[in-house]
Amino acid sequence: MSDKKRRLIIVSNRLPLSLKKVDGGSFESSLSSGGLVTALSGISSSTNVRWFGWPGTNIEDEEERKAAQQSLAEKDAVGIFLDEKLAHQHYNEFSNGIAWPILHYQSGVGFNEDAWKAYQRVNEIFADTVAASIEDGDLVWVHDYHLLLFPAYLRERLKNAGREKCPIGFTLHTPFPAEDFWRALPVQKDLLAGVLACDLVGFHTDEYKRNFVECCARGLEAAIDGDDIVYKGRRAHTGTFIVGINPQKFTDGLLGREVQARVEELEDMYRRKTVILGVDRLDYTKGLVQKLQGYEHFLAQHPDLRGQVTLIQVAIPSREGVKEYQDLEREISGLVGKINGEYSTPEGSPIVYMHHSVRFTDLTALYRIADICLITSPRDGMNLVAAENVACQKGRYGVLVLSELAGAAAFMGKGSITFNPASAQQLSDAIYEAASMGAEEKKERYEQLEDFVTTNTSAKWGETFTKTLSNFA
Ligand code: UDP
Ligand code: G6P
Repeated sequence: MSDKKRRLIIVSNRLPLSLKKVDGGSFESSLSSGGLVTALSGISSSTNVRWFGWPGTNIEDEEERKAAQQSLAEKDAVGIFLDEKLAHQHYNEFSNGIAWPILHYQSGVGFNEDAWKAYQRVNEIFADTVAASIEDGDLVWVHDYHLLLFPAYLRERLKNAGREKCPIGFTLHTPFPAEDFWRALPVQKDLLAGVLACDLVGFHTDEYKRNFVECCARGLEAAIDGDDIVYKGRRAHTGTFIVGINPQKFTDGLLGREVQARVEELEDMYRRKTVILGVDRLDYTKGLVQKLQGYEHFLAQHPDLRGQVTLIQVAIPSREGVKEYQDLEREISGLVGKINGEYSTPEGSPIVYMHHSVRFTDLTALYRIADICLITSPRDGMNLVAAENVACQKGRYGVLVLSELAGAAAFMGKGSITFNPASAQQLSDAIYEAASMGAEEKKERYEQLEDFVTTNTSAKWGETFTKTLSNFA
C-alpha cells in the first residue's frame, strides 16, 4: 500500500479539543494546551488521520455524547469516554502523580496500587476501542506516558483478530530518566514491556533514548542490537526524532491585521522597557519558582535596571486536580505578590502575571515584542515555546535564555544563553548578559536558532516518524 493511502491512527490521552462541564450541566469545548497537541496539529490536518483520546471529561447522557463526538469529529478526533473516578485515578493519580514526576527526576514519589490498576484498565479500554476500528495497513502512532501499556494490549488484540499488518509506533514527549532513578518505580518492568510491543519507539533527544535502552537492557535483560531492542522474540527499533513547530503559522499570524495592531499597542505600552517573556504551563517542570527567585535576585543585584525591565509571565492552568499543582499555584502567586510588593513603583510593577491561557493573537504579539524569552525548566522533554519565540523574532533578534536542562538545549543551546536554573546567580547573570548584548551578536545567535526552527518543523518530524514506521508494514 502506498504511504499516501495509509490511514494514520494517532492515540494520545489529550485530544486537540478538550471538553469541560460548565454551569447548568452543558459542555464547552476549547483548544487543548501543551506541546503534544502543538506538535501534532500540523500533521493531523495534512494526512488521512483519526485521532483517538480522552476528551477531558465524562459525559453520561447519550445525546450529549453524540453532540460531543460530532464536534470532535470536526478535528478528525474520536473521544474515548471514561468513568469519572477511573479517569481521575488514571490521569491525576498515576499518569500525573507518579509517572510524570518520575520521568522528570522528582524524588519522594509514592506508589498507589489502586491508581496502577486504573492505569492498566484505561490502557485496556483504549486498546479495545482502537482495535475495534483498525483496518489492515493502518499505521498506529501512540503518544506519551499515559499510554505506556497500550502498545502491548493493542498488539495482543490485533493478533487475536488476525490483523498483524499494522505497525505500531510510540513517541515519548517527556525525558526518560537514568536507569538508577527509573528502577525505583515498582512497575517499571511492566511499563517497559508495554512499550517494547512497538515496532518503533521515538524520543526527543539521544540522552532519553540511551536511558530507555539501558533500562530495557538491565531491567528486562533485553538484548541490544545497535538501535534495536530485542525482547521476547520481538524487535523494537529506537530513534531520536527532532520535534518542532509550524513556524509558518506564526509568520503568517504576524502579517495579520489583528496581531499587528496588538504588537503596536504592546510596543507602545512597553516602549521604555526590556520585556522578558515567560510562557509555561503551570508545572514544576517549568521551574517557575526558580524563575521568580532568579529574577528577584537580578532585581536585587541591579538596582539601576529596576524600572527598566518587566517580566511578563503567562502561566497556563494545568492539572488542577493534582495536589502538587495546587500547592505550586499558591507558591507562585505568593512569590509574585512578594516581588511586586517589594519592587513596584507608581510607574509600574516588575512582573505582569497571567494565570490563564492566552489567545493566539496575544501569544504571537507577546512573542514578537519580547526582548528576552526566558525558559527555566529543571527538566523538560523538549520545550516548543523556545521555537515559537524564535519564529516570531525575525528582524528583531530577541535573545533566548534557555535552561541547559530542557531538551531544546540539546539543539538550540548554541544560539541561546544557557544556564542552570537551580542557581539564582546563573539565572540573574544570564538575564543581565541577554539585556546587555550588542546588536551584532544578537543577530548572529538568532540566525542559528532560526535555521534550526525552520528546518526542524512539526511537519518534518511527523513525516520522518511515519515514513520510518511504514517500513515495518
Ligand atoms: N500554549 C497554550 N496555551 C496558551 C499559551 C501557550 O497551549 O495559553 C502552547 C504554546 O504555544 C506551546 C505549548 O502550549 O505550543 C507548550 O508547549 P511546550 O513544549 O513548551 O511545553 P508543554 O506544555 O508541552 O510541557
Ligand atoms: C505535556 C505532555 C502532554 C500533555 C501536555 C499538556 O506536553 O507531554 O502529554 O498533553 O503536557 O498536559 P495535559 O495534562 O493538559 O494533557
